[in-house]
Amino acid sequence: MERRDKELNRAHYDAHAADDRVRAQVEPNRLHSLEIVVPWVVSSLGANARVIDIAGGSGAHASQIVRSSSISVVGVDISETMIRQRAEDPLLTENVVADMEALPFVSGSFEGALFVAALHHVPDPLPTLREAWRVLRPGGQIFVCEPNSLRARRQGVAPIVEHPKEFRVTVGWLAGRIQEAGFEIDEVRTKRLSIRVVDLFTQSSSLGIFHLTDRIDRVLTVVPGLSHLGGVGLVRGTKPAQPAVSSDAQEDGARPFAGQNVKLT
Ligand SMILES: C[S@@+](CC[C@H](N)C(=O)[O-])C[C@H]1O[C@@H](n2cnc3c(N)ncnc32)[C@H](O)[C@@H]1O
Repeated sequence: MERRDKELNRAHYDAHAADDRVRAQVEPNRLHSLEIVVPWVVSSLGANARVIDIAGGSGAHASQIVRSSSISVVGVDISETMIRQRAEDPLLTENVVADMEALPFVSGSFEGALFVAALHHVPDPLPTLREAWRVLRPGGQIFVCEPNSLRARRQGVAPIVEHPKEFRVTVGWLAGRIQEAGFEIDEVRTKRLSIRVVDLFTQSSSLGIFHLTDRIDRVLTVVPGLSHLGGVGLVRGTKPAQPAVSSDAQEDGARPFAGQNVKLT
């Protein structure tokens, strides 16, 4: 029998996300996500890099990455509906329906692995991160952009009762998992700090509000202790050229909610 989170995710994204690609072009939080992720990935990778967009949905980030660089992007998602929408973009030519815990690619196929709002859809990201490690070439980079939960900071990583296909995670915990999978951590930071306050009063901030709060965050995040409280966590890591610890050699099996936080400065 399939694990419940996979069943729920497939069913939800197959049934409710037929307009996802369109929504990604108009919803302010999605547009803001593009502004965060696309330049980050493009500026970190070399020309002609091949990136795997894992649980990449309808391909909004991928479409912009391929248009602003010579990078090519291969998409993987558990939902057929999402994969069909990716294929609407003539520049996204390789798209596969697959589970992120079993990527149908040979080892060492990619220079980059991208996760956006993806890892918090599995109870433990470690098996997926090991798969990303496997399909990356030595020196390849992993990019993770996920919700950073304040409640998970206080109470620990846990399923979200009101959204049973998702899990509350923190950026520090994710960075720890990424390290356990065999990556060296290059960068851990958060975005969307002061918009947390705005969100208490409205759930639909305009892109202008996102930009205004970005400017406020530039000042706030120099205050010690505030820099890792943003609503979105970003982690970048590298698969070492000569890995000290092989991901394959690590113990197998899911260990939900175990793991160490990477120490955040
Ligand atoms: C919130 S969406 C994010 C999509 C995309 N990364 C983006 O930012 O637009 C989460 C995606 O994860 C996919 N997903 C959930 N569990 C998965 C799994 N086990 N394997 C592959 N994809 C999965 C869903 O189908 C959905 O497209």
